[in-house]
Amino acid sequence: MYKIAIDGPGGAGKSTVAKAVAEKLGITYVDTGALYRTVGLYVKQRGVNPKDAAAVEDLLPDIKIRLAYENGVQNLYLNGQNVSDSIRTQEISMYASLVSAHPAVRAFLLDAQRDIAKTQSIVMDGRDIGTVIFPDAEVKIFLTASAENRAKRRYDELIARGEKVDYEQVLSDIKTRDHNDSTRSVAPLRPAEDAVLLDNTGYTPDQSVAAVLEIIRRKLGDRNE
Ligand code: DC
Repeated sequence: MYKIAIDGPGGAGKSTVAKAVAEKLGITYVDTGALYRTVGLYVKQRGVNPKDAAAVEDLLPDIKIRLAYENGVQNLYLNGQNVSDSIRTQEISMYASLVSAHPAVRAFLLDAQRDIAKTQSIVMDGRDIGTVIFPDAEVKIFLTASAENRAKRRYDELIARGEKVDYEQVLSDIKTRDHNDSTRSVAPLRPAEDAVLLDNTGYTPDQSVAAVLEIIRRKLGDRNE
């Protein structure tokens, strides 16, 4: 069994790449951002300020999150309800980023992330997978791209989902989230010392996937051939 950690800022194409890699290697893809988004969604539903650490912490005992794999697709259940689609909005991205800064939220989601790799090989994407969740991961990749490039990808993705968004707003949100995610005191976004850095600015999704598979092949050798 092995673990592949893919970290990086929002919009770098982590999920596209991780999903393709998982399919190619026949292992499970775990999208950890979805867990933080689910907490963010609940905080919003309860009308709580996501910046209020104590108020957010008080809500945690009311949250039951279930990660389920149905036909190879990750689904997220919040207190029994499938929220896989409703966590994908621009507003929830910001809620997720804000609630993820609270140590209690990170602690709350830790076991769910570690447990899933106990019985199977995984490729997991997030912000702190290579630094905190799996410092012993066999492969660690830090995927990034320019803020403009990432904003354009996020914008296209949101438009394709039918959300009404403005590119400048998406860019400004990406920059705010970059700032929140990299300056928080617990588990800030940063490459692990032994991570391979990959800047995929200007790459097509296929090129990113090929570059990542090449890194994995180099690291794992014939382990998964
Ligand atoms: O990857 P994403 O855009 O779905 O993540 C949403 C937010 O969740 C992101 O801004 C920061 C937070 N997050 C985190 O703090 N740690 C992770 N492992 C994954 C996401």
